[in-house]
Amino acid sequence: MNKHIKWHKPLLSKEDRQKRNGHKSLIVWLTGLSGSGKSTIANLVEHQLFKEGIHTFLLDGDNLRHGINHNLGFSEEDRKENIRRISEIGKLFVDSGIVVFAAAISPYKEDREAARQRFKEEEFIEVYVKCTLEECERRDPKGLYEKARNGEIKNFTGISQLYEEPSDPEITINTTEQPIEKSVHQLTQYLLSKLKGIE
Ligand code: ADX
Repeated sequence: MNKHIKWHKPLLSKEDRQKRNGHKSLIVWLTGLSGSGKSTIANLVEHQLFKEGIHTFLLDGDNLRHGINHNLGFSEEDRKENIRRISEIGKLFVDSGIVVFAAAISPYKEDREAARQRFKEEEFIEVYVKCTLEECERRDPKGLYEKARNGEIKNFTGISQLYEEPSDPEITINTTEQPIEKSVHQLTQYLLSKLKGIE
């Protein structure tokens, strides 16, 4: 970074904003294979928190690729940059006092770890949305696994590119084994317990 660029300390702090909102702010980082249920769970859990009066926002990997990340593909380098941008944007939301969800495959441990490092320990909740490749492929909601199998899509996570499972996520949600309602309940309860503390 250019040494002539200085940091301006804002007059209003993250803590001021959290107090105004009446809850802590944090990032809920959902990682998992395509089709594992990240976006579905993030949307439904966000809705539950929203109904509880919590200020929320959702950063969805697919959606961000329509805008800020439209110039990125799926090479290892581009995925790294994708995760860097999502986590930096997420940090702005956390600084603004909001509970932000980030739903992106984020297949590499190193990139998720770098994302985690941008936050305070208690502000980063890694959620492993765990689903077998077989089940994701059976669901194939966007028809992409079929395309990956027949070579139409290169570098597809789980087929022709690696997915590194998290070794120590804050919470694992197994969407192969349990119905979506149970997964939503599990994550909602977990987050509500973390969000208490500022009144
Ligand atoms: S990430 O790996 O960089 O975190 P991200 O979550 O933003 O990925 O985008 C993944 C979505 O892009 C998938 O859900 C799928 O719809 C689409 N997609 C298109 N090509 C690929 C690919 N080669 N690998 C994985 N997902 C792909």
